[in-house]
Amino acid sequence: MIISNLRYYHIVTFGCQMNKADSERMAGILEDMGFQWTDVLDQANLILYNTCTIRDSAEQKVYSYLGKQAKRKHKDPSLILAVAGCVAQQEGEKILRRIPELDLVMGPQHVNYLGDLLEQVLKGNQIVATEPIHIIEDITKPRRASKITAWVNIIYGCNERCSYCVVPSVRGLEQSRTPEDICSEIKLLEQQGYKEVTLLGQNIDAYGRDLPGTTETGRNQYTFTDLLYRIHEVSNIKRIRFATSHPRYFTERLISACHELPNICEHFHIPFQSGDNDILKKMKRGYTHQRYRQLIDKVRYYMPNASITADAIVGFPGETEQQFENTLKLVEDIGFDQLNTAAYSPRPGTPAATWSEQVDDDIKSDRLQRLNHLVGQKAAENSRKYLGEIEEILVEQENPKENNQVMGRTRKNRLTFFQGNIDDLRGELVKVKITEARPFSLTGKILK
Ligand code: SAH
Ligand code: SF4
Ligand code: F3S
Repeated sequence: MIISNLRYYHIVTFGCQMNKADSERMAGILEDMGFQWTDVLDQANLILYNTCTIRDSAEQKVYSYLGKQAKRKHKDPSLILAVAGCVAQQEGEKILRRIPELDLVMGPQHVNYLGDLLEQVLKGNQIVATEPIHIIEDITKPRRASKITAWVNIIYGCNERCSYCVVPSVRGLEQSRTPEDICSEIKLLEQQGYKEVTLLGQNIDAYGRDLPGTTETGRNQYTFTDLLYRIHEVSNIKRIRFATSHPRYFTERLISACHELPNICEHFHIPFQSGDNDILKKMKRGYTHQRYRQLIDKVRYYMPNASITADAIVGFPGETEQQFENTLKLVEDIGFDQLNTAAYSPRPGTPAATWSEQVDDDIKSDRLQRLNHLVGQKAAENSRKYLGEIEEILVEQENPKENNQVMGRTRKNRLTFFQGNIDDLRGELVKVKITEARPFSLTGKILK
């Protein structure tokens, strides 16, 4: 299509890695249509907000951003405003009542159809695309933000029903991509010089259960573990990460595969959400804290130095001080390398939001602070273990705060800074001796 006077686009991305990956694919589609990226929002002829609604604060942020550009549209009616992502899916047409200036509202399952949707917008239509659909394979090339590390979606959606969570209603049911499609994307990335891929899914370890075909033993032949073996057969990309894992699907077979396969990084993100069994039950997580602990023991049995990170929620409806302390105890005992913590936020359409026993905001923020304090201590303890060690770092970029330094990550995902020239080191895997340790980052010296 020829886009004469509509030239520049800008995408603002909120939320998780899933949204970041979706934004890269949408940018690829826009560039195929002839649009060019601009960093300057006011110069853009098309602005797309890729939104998140995991907590109320995330949703409100979207409205405040949108309000500003909606005003600009009164002066410049040719400006195209689009809202994608999870707020778009949650609100659908309702969002138009609040912001009638929008041209396009599209849910996450429609990402790969952005081109068709925009064609209709350019003909003068106001479009809402939020009905559940089969996600088509992306035939365009994503415009990836990095030339070194890349996201690869392997499963979309979520079939769980955690009682606090809006994701299943905005991302729909699980849809696994085929192993063939995933492997060809990874092979291509390797040819293009990428050094690291992160496989993405809400419950990545549930991968494949919606794909046809079971083996003679009755096991689905396309489990996540099988996929990891297959990826190793077809490519030698040096670092493979994956997120997010659900404790219920993290099998011993998967752990042993991660141990055996050389390119899988020893970092596992396995959210536990709460350390109290009654709360876990009300959350509908499907495991106990004992099961979670056994799982981490098993990971550490195979890979004693593996880095473990997780997510946790404080102030879930009805959570007592004692129950919160059970979360503290779990964090104390396991000693996570990093923990994403959040105060519970009631979300539309979720069961927990309707329960009467909501916890006061000041109690939630007090618990959050106490948990974060402990997380910082544990992360610092873990970081100190790196002192004097030699780590392999994949150099990604310059340290934005100090130009004579570069930054990258260890296999276990600790951010590491050291002196060096980015033009020589970008994309290189180098050995670095760690000399300083902060809770969530390290400094070292490159070994020649
Ligand atoms: N699929 C992943 C996580 C997806 S959402 C899993 O099951 O672990 C990312 C994180 O947001 C969750 O792990 C949870 O800690 C947090 N979260 C989700 N809903 C929330 C809510 N209503 N309030 C506060 N935090 C929430
Ligand atoms: Fe939300 Fe639970 Fe699905 Fe994770 S597993 S996305 S927390 S419903
Ligand atoms: Fe947010 Fe949607 Fe991700 S709600 S956390 S962007 S799946």
